Amino acid sequence: MKSQSRITKVLNIEKPIIQGPMTWLTDARLVAAVSNAGGLGVLGPNAGQTTPATSVEEAVEKMRIEIQKTKKLTTKPFGLSLLPGEAEKDPFTVPMIKMAAEEKVAAVTYVGNVIRPELFEMLRQNNIKIIYRALCPNLKVAKEAEKYGADIIAVTGFDHGGDLPKKTISNFDLIPMTVDAVDIPIVADGGIADARGVKAAFALGAEGIYSGTVFITSDECRANNEVKKMIVKNDAEDLLLFRTAPAPYYRSLPTKLANHLVQMDKEGVPSTEIGQAMRGGIKAAMFDGDFDHGYISVGNGISNIHAIRPVSAIINDLMQGIE
Ligand SMILES: Cc1cc2nc3c(=O)[nH]c(=O)nc-3n(C[C@H](O)[C@H](O)[C@H](O)COP(=O)(O)O)c2cc1C
Repeated sequence: MKSQSRITKVLNIEKPIIQGPMTWLTDARLVAAVSNAGGLGVLGPNAGQTTPATSVEEAVEKMRIEIQKTKKLTTKPFGLSLLPGEAEKDPFTVPMIKMAAEEKVAAVTYVGNVIRPELFEMLRQNNIKIIYRALCPNLKVAKEAEKYGADIIAVTGFDHGGDLPKKTISNFDLIPMTVDAVDIPIVADGGIADARGVKAAFALGAEGIYSGTVFITSDECRANNEVKKMIVKNDAEDLLLFRTAPAPYYRSLPTKLANHLVQMDKEGVPSTEIGQAMRGGIKAAMFDGDFDHGYISVGNGISNIHAIRPVSAIINDLMQGIE
């Protein structure tokens, strides 16, 4: 059966579906629901929180508590997200990995273009599986991640939600290109929200998928209910796209802030200033429901999301693209 791919073997899960971490929007309930349904749930930054942590220690201990809550809801493997920066500017990642090892977390998403061999080594020594995702994908970092011991590569096409890559390459090109360049298995990240997307990803050589937006519309996701309804109601053609920094681009459903950011971009305001104006915008709109001061980051796959459903129904639907 095709659903038993190298992805399911490496991660010790039943279905090759990974829920991408999403800042503020994940918690023990969502992650356990995905893992209980046979996929891999992943706790993202600020999982289960309502206010940002004020120190590294607080961030790590709050994540530990969310991991322990998740373990009470599932006995299946689940993951934790990492966004490593350059060693001298990143106090978070090493303590987060130490805690993940103590808690015996099964996998991490290692996200970003900064490849630090010592972190790969630390993860491997603690038997934590590594799903590597470049923010700006290219073959050089994919090969490097493979060389240092990544287990899986998530390939991010321009259709996806969250920080968009620098190059506007779609998964139609990125997946086969990466499949040809590395030997480890690939999961397709971006724009996949129904069985047709899954089927296409597999046809291109992916062995699993990595989705975020479709899980925002699950019953179990802590996102604001109005946001879920807006995702169901709108299509990709309704999305606004603007340049920003440090991520090169962002897309959002129309909100007052998102329209303002597009206007700033049109007026040639530097992308770093647009980035400043966006600060806190995901939590404001997507968790608190404040559409004046926030934006709604989603992938183009919203065109194929037509209902708010339990995670198990979403995963069953996605699996129709494989079986
Ligand atoms: C609202 C939102 C927030 C996100 N936050 C993060 C994050 O904090 N860390 C991360 O590695 N990826 C983040 N992502 C990316 C997702 O993990 C995943 O790659 C993406 O949602 C997949 O594309 P899709 O939304 O089209 O399915 C975010 C995505 C969204 C939509």
